[in-house]
Amino acid sequence: MGDRVSEQVIGADLSLVPKPSAALSVWDADPALGRVVVSVEQIAGRVAELGETITADYAGRPPLLVGVLKGAFIFLADLSRAIRLPLELDFMAVSSYGTATKTSGVVRIVKDLDIDLTGRHVLIVEDILDSGLTLSYLRRSLQARGPASLAVCSLLVKRSLQPRPDLEIAYVGFEIEPEFVVGYGLDVAERYRNLPDLRVYLAGEPE
Ligand code: IMP
Ligand code: MG
Repeated sequence: MGDRVSEQVIGADLSLVPKPSAALSVWDADPALGRVVVSVEQIAGRVAELGETITADYAGRPPLLVGVLKGAFIFLADLSRAIRLPLELDFMAVSSYGTATKTSGVVRIVKDLDIDLTGRHVLIVEDILDSGLTLSYLRRSLQARGPASLAVCSLLVKRSLQPRPDLEIAYVGFEIEPEFVVGYGLDVAERYRNLPDLRVYLAGEPE
């Protein structure tokens, strides 16, 4: 009986899932969106590679993935399933003061972790590093909680980021030009998080 139910659910789901090309064409009509910076296929390929590397690096010391909300939610969902280890997940939400497309560097923890980091192998999963100020703050805050190790995986890093010792990034998905991008979890004023690929955002800052 269980089998029949799951077959029905899968059958119903597949008939409703839009073809990838159809799903993207909706976004092609939006004048606020520019060229595709990273395609759906490129994201999938790189996430699989990162998953393999992290699986090898963390063999025997299962990681605790700390997702930084909200931007990293889709990346974290895909990356965690590409890691073949019995890992654990927790979430943090930070808000950085500033305008819609610029960080001020003043960061506030809006939602803290539930899990104690003492002795844990913590891997921070971020969406994007622009100035690096958010990560720099987050690293200091989590390091003070006594993890056995602390590393960072960021889907995107802007080429304009100045290398700094406190911004050591073990895993990077893609290096991109210093443009404002949206999609795959990244937003502008809470929009475009569900865009399946990453595109340049062309319009001015919404106030
Ligand atoms: P940073 O502190 O300047 O490194 O900025 C980090 C945060 O700003 C990221 O976690 C994002 O939430 C946001 N951000 C920076 N650049 C972009 C972008 O190009 N698109 C969307 N969000 C961005
Ligand atoms: Mg973020």
